[in-house]
Amino acid sequence: MEAVVVDAGSKLLKAGFAVPDQAPTMIIPTRMKRMPEDGAMPSSSAFEDITVDPVVRGFIRDWEAMEDLFHHVLYTGLEWEVGNEGQILFTEPLSTPKAVREQLVQMMFETFNVSGFYASEQAVLSLYAVGRISGCTVDIGHGKIDIAPVSEGAVQHIASKRFDIGGIELTNLLAQELRKSNPHVNLSLSDVEDIKEQYACCAEDQDAFEKTGKSCQKEQHTLPDGQVITIARERYTVGEALFQPLILGLEEHGIVEQLIRCISSVSSDNHRQLMENTVLCGGTASITGFEERFQKEANLCSSAICPSLVKPPEYMPENLSKNSAWMGGAILAKVVFPQNQHVTKADYDETGPSIVHRKCF
Ligand SMILES: Nc1ncnc2c1ncn2[C@@H]1O[C@H](COP(=O)(O)OP(=O)(O)OP(=O)(O)O)[C@@H](O)[C@H]1O
Ligand SMILES: [Mg+2]
Repeated sequence: MEAVVVDAGSKLLKAGFAVPDQAPTMIIPTRMKRMPEDGAMPSSSAFEDITVDPVVRGFIRDWEAMEDLFHHVLYTGLEWEVGNEGQILFTEPLSTPKAVREQLVQMMFETFNVSGFYASEQAVLSLYAVGRISGCTVDIGHGKIDIAPVSEGAVQHIASKRFDIGGIELTNLLAQELRKSNPHVNLSLSDVEDIKEQYACCAEDQDAFEKTGKSCQKEQHTLPDGQVITIARERYTVGEALFQPLILGLEEHGIVEQLIRCISSVSSDNHRQLMENTVLCGGTASITGFEERFQKEANLCSSAICPSLVKPPEYMPENLSKNSAWMGGAILAKVVFPQNQHVTKADYDETGPSIVHRKCF
């Protein structure tokens, strides 16, 4: 049986058997319903209040809900049989706390009875997905942005940066803007998230964005309940916020400048290798026009560091950048388990959860 690979993101959980060059078979919301204690069914209006997001900003926060979700994924979705569980590889965000790693390995061996365990950093895995072992990943997900220089398969932690900004902030920004321009429309956050994924885009450059303030084509969008909403400049504002975080009220540099700063803090011998192998990934990086704007700003950079983006290999499925951490995990699983580099049940029984720091790095 192939190993299972799991990338549990703040919004989407990607899971499937490790078949390299294929997308994960399960992509589901990282979300659980919490049943009321007395077992009564909640009314539909209360539903939103009792859903739980077990992963927050990339890290597992609600272990009970996560266990229920893993149970569903492994036994129902991927049809593992109780008593015959296989091996499993998890992707990890940058700077995962030691306690989180230990709790995960403990849950896997003690609750799910897995026969082998491995965990590896998303930044490294996203590079593997495009056939590289060195480069720099910019992962813009739902709950975070991780920028990580990677040399020979190892993250340069001192030079890496984590920002607690992601798709969720862009959804909130869009909601705020659309509520201003459509005061009579009753908008839920899930409607706004759908609108964001359909309409958000990036202007060619900052000048072009400023011009959208004067003239911008208006789109009419019908919500599932029949209300009609008008979308104009807001769609550009969402994409622009990644390049001008002040739009989100944050006194930070834009995404391209942040990448350049990360690369510059690595020894200059490695600059070229990092620059020439920059990989954009995560769902938020698939905003229409994002890649073009990113490359345009990078080309205009006055510093000697001018990042250029890696083109995904042609044999990889579409949407590679949305699933690249999972897909790199599938490639790695084909190496670590056959070569016995993983944590075995015997290792775990002998050393306990701290074995994860010795074997997975
Ligand atoms: N076309 C699109 N335009 C804008 N945003 C998009 C688009 N497609 C997906 N997204 C956003 O991407 C995010 C999900 O991306 P991803 O699956 O990489 O996040 P995640 O892995 O769940 O979270 P994280 O890695 O931050 O823990 C959501 O915020 C979603 O709304
Ligand atoms: Mg992610």
